[in-house]
Amino acid sequence: MILVTGASGHVGGELVELLADRGRQVRALVRDPADSGVRPGVEVVGGDLNRPESLFEALRGVDGVFLLGGFSDMSGVLARAKAAGVGHVVLLSSRSVVGGHLDNAVVGMHMGSEAAVHESGIEWTVLRPSGFMSNTFEWVGQLSAGDVVRAPFADASIATIDPYDIASVAAAVLGRAEHFGQNHPLSGPAALLPADRVEILAKVLGRPLRFEGQPDGEARDEMSRTIPAKYVEAFFRFFVDGEFDDTPVLPTVEELTGRPPRTFEEWAATHAKAFR
Ligand SMILES: NC(=O)c1ccc[n+]([C@@H]2O[C@H](COP(=O)([O-])OP(=O)(O)OC[C@H]3O[C@@H](n4cnc5c(N)ncnc54)[C@H](OP(=O)(O)O)[C@@H]3O)[C@@H](O)[C@H]2O)c1
Repeated sequence: MILVTGASGHVGGELVELLADRGRQVRALVRDPADSGVRPGVEVVGGDLNRPESLFEALRGVDGVFLLGGFSDMSGVLARAKAAGVGHVVLLSSRSVVGGHLDNAVVGMHMGSEAAVHESGIEWTVLRPSGFMSNTFEWVGQLSAGDVVRAPFADASIATIDPYDIASVAAAVLGRAEHFGQNHPLSGPAALLPADRVEILAKVLGRPLRFEGQPDGEARDEMSRTIPAKYVEAFFRFFVDGEFDDTPVLPTVEELTGRPPRTFEEWAATHAKAFR
């Protein structure tokens, strides 16, 4: 039995679908089982990753866990998993940790989760993806109001990855001994500026979309309304100060799944309905 955390999210949602399609036994962890969006036929269990004691039922009889990071007591979560007899944890981290600065809050969060996995006594595999194509959903509100996307970090090129590809890698490595103790950095097939993503989205949607770069001061104020200050600072260090180069295109998705990573065009076509 595989327990998928974040099963209502972008990566976990795709992973539940993939595992269920392949006939593997899968259990979906969500905080509210009544409103999970998980497909019928898949076992859904409630639990809160910030409260390790709430995970007892979810971990019963589980061999492998797909685990999101960044929760308040990752060691506590992993201790519960170990006690339940889990044999392999696949952690979703970020490639910002590679050469990253520990005092950057995002890097520190992921490094802390990786350290907890290393110290858990459970076999582990860490996935370190680039920025997600699904971050583009942040533009849904603007695109329902008009044809202009005004967004921060106009010069930040990112080899964005489709969450489907992260999930495909997770499905390929779960329970496989040759991946124990491995860190897999992952990327999409091309480095794209926000303006490139807008141009592709415009073609896919058949709309005359236009990109406008947000000045840094305006972006900082807007982000600070919804994101804790330490994470706003972390993103400015990444993409304005240049602490994180998320442009390299890697062969790892193809090596691990046997097919190339999906393009942003494919992602946009798959999710076009959300932008119409
Ligand atoms: N976005 C990026 O570019 C990027 C890049 C690298 C790494 N990452 C990492 O990827 C992860 C996000 O993945 P995603 O995009 O698939 O997720 P997502 O779509 O943002 O959804 C978040 C998921 O986390 C679950 N969740 C939140 N708080 C929880 C809690 N206390 N207990 C249990 N579940 C909880 C939510 O479930 P419910 O609300 O249903 O309970 C939901 O399924 C984060 O760890 C992030 O750091 C993201």
